[in-house]
Amino acid sequence: MGTCTEKTPVLTQQARAVDAILSHCQQSLPLDTTGSRCRMLGVRKRICSRGLILWFFIANILLVLYYITNSAHLSIRSSPEATCPLSLAKSQQNETGFSQSQAPGEDRCSPKINIMFVKTHKTASSTVLNVLFRFGEKHRLRFALPDGRNDFFYPSPFQSSWVKDYRPGKCFNIVCNHMRFDHREVAKLLPPDAVYITILRDPVALFESSFHYYHSAVPFTWRIKGKNKLAQFLEHPERFYYPRAINSFYLKNLQFFDFGLENNLEADDPQVMKAIQNLSQHLDLVLITEYFEESLILLKDMMCWTMEDILYFKLNMRRSSSVSQLTPDLKAKALQWNGADWKLYQHFNATFWARVEAFGRGRMKEEVEELRRRNTEMKAICIEDGGPVESKNIQDKRFQPWQPFGDSPILGYNLRKTIDPKFKAICEKMLMPELQYLSDLGVNLWVTGLLGWIKDNIFRHTMFSI
Ligand SMILES: *[C@@H]1O[C@H](CO)[C@@H](O)[C@H](O)[C@H]1NC(C)=O
Ligand SMILES: *[C@@H]1O[C@H](CO)[C@@H](O)[C@H](O)[C@H]1NC(C)=O
Ligand SMILES: *[C@@H]1O[C@H](CO)[C@@H](O)[C@H](O)[C@H]1NC(C)=O
Repeated sequence: MGTCTEKTPVLTQQARAVDAILSHCQQSLPLDTTGSRCRMLGVRKRICSRGLILWFFIANILLVLYYITNSAHLSIRSSPEATCPLSLAKSQQNETGFSQSQAPGEDRCSPKINIMFVKTHKTASSTVLNVLFRFGEKHRLRFALPDGRNDFFYPSPFQSSWVKDYRPGKCFNIVCNHMRFDHREVAKLLPPDAVYITILRDPVALFESSFHYYHSAVPFTWRIKGKNKLAQFLEHPERFYYPRAINSFYLKNLQFFDFGLENNLEADDPQVMKAIQNLSQHLDLVLITEYFEESLILLKDMMCWTMEDILYFKLNMRRSSSVSQLTPDLKAKALQWNGADWKLYQHFNATFWARVEAFGRGRMKEEVEELRRRNTEMKAICIEDGGPVESKNIQDKRFQPWQPFGDSPILGYNLRKTIDPKFKAICEKMLMPELQYLSDLGVNLWVTGLLGWIKDNIFRHTMFSI
């Protein structure tokens, strides 16, 4: 019997991840002469088998969980007619604590309360989410929330039946958690007058951030050697990337993907512009991360909200030392690699500035200044030491943000020890990370919690030390 034959894993779901582990192991051991190859394989097998068994074990648990949670919801697929009619939404509006009469001095327009926020990844969308959560809570609006976890089965395309306590025909006011956007499915949940918004970021910065945050969850990157994996990948993406690999979308045109579009299109494909045109018909306002304050002012104006409604602290921010500075050459490569996202960004950057122009540049400048002033005021009221701190220095678990695999680069805040009681509640909400806020809104995050446990207790100690 050949002692040197290796069994190949048969479970196709996991084969690629296993391949990645094997090649990772292979590369970490010298395989010099053909004579010693068999002995080396034996050593390699022993070293790798623990990692492999563990991977099978975890992957199977996750698959089972995925199917259990998925199938429970698939049974109530809604019909196309089951939408939320405007009349029902209006009558429900009475149940909410929403008051149409505004404080004197405010504009006479009436605030809009029905919102679809397409929450994109790595775009400061968590900060927008916090603004929407607070607005919805303050006015007792009805959120369409995920169930058991913090997203709607991302990256599967969204289905309305996944919403917690969903019934066909039930109306919601706000949909704002991570999903792969599908306009027709979302429209079933909201009144026809709902406002659709999203946020986009420069694809180079987004790619850098996404690579840093997610590469551990993209198995084909485990093969990339050297210290600067990001540069290695951008130099030769074709060596590592294949479109159907697990989680590959995190590393190519992620914004296109989040909108439910095909993220593997080349930038010059005519389908790209068509998809952008299609999407723009469904979006009422696109915020731009690079012009975050201006974006919130435009949002406030369109929604007829108050300055108080859009006050914010930056949430889910990375420590600056973990941000890679890309050379101009790598920037160009990142841009080319994410060419569809670049077109998307340029299109909506142009429409954004046309809106700023229509709003009035001078007026914009004044309002941005007021927003900054009031944010600074809130910082002094709410935050200990006036700014964000490293995860290990956050004292209260309620303000501890979720961290990516293998590292803790995400900063958070400490609530001031001496705080005026009348500001305590608002400060807590403004500082609260997404998961804790979702819990407060009544979402049981058992799936997310389990993933977090596996990430912190198994992956951190084994996967990245083999
Ligand atoms: C909602 O409230 C308004 C005024 O508060 C009232 O006139 C209207 O009849 C109410 N609508 C329903 C459906 O209860
Ligand atoms: C654009 O929308 C039309 C009609 O909804 C659809 O048939 C077409 O496939 C879409 N095109 C792209 C590129 O998304
Ligand atoms: C976005 O638009 C502004 C204003 O026109 C312009 O200064 C900026 O260069 C644009 N950014 C990109 C990436 O196109």
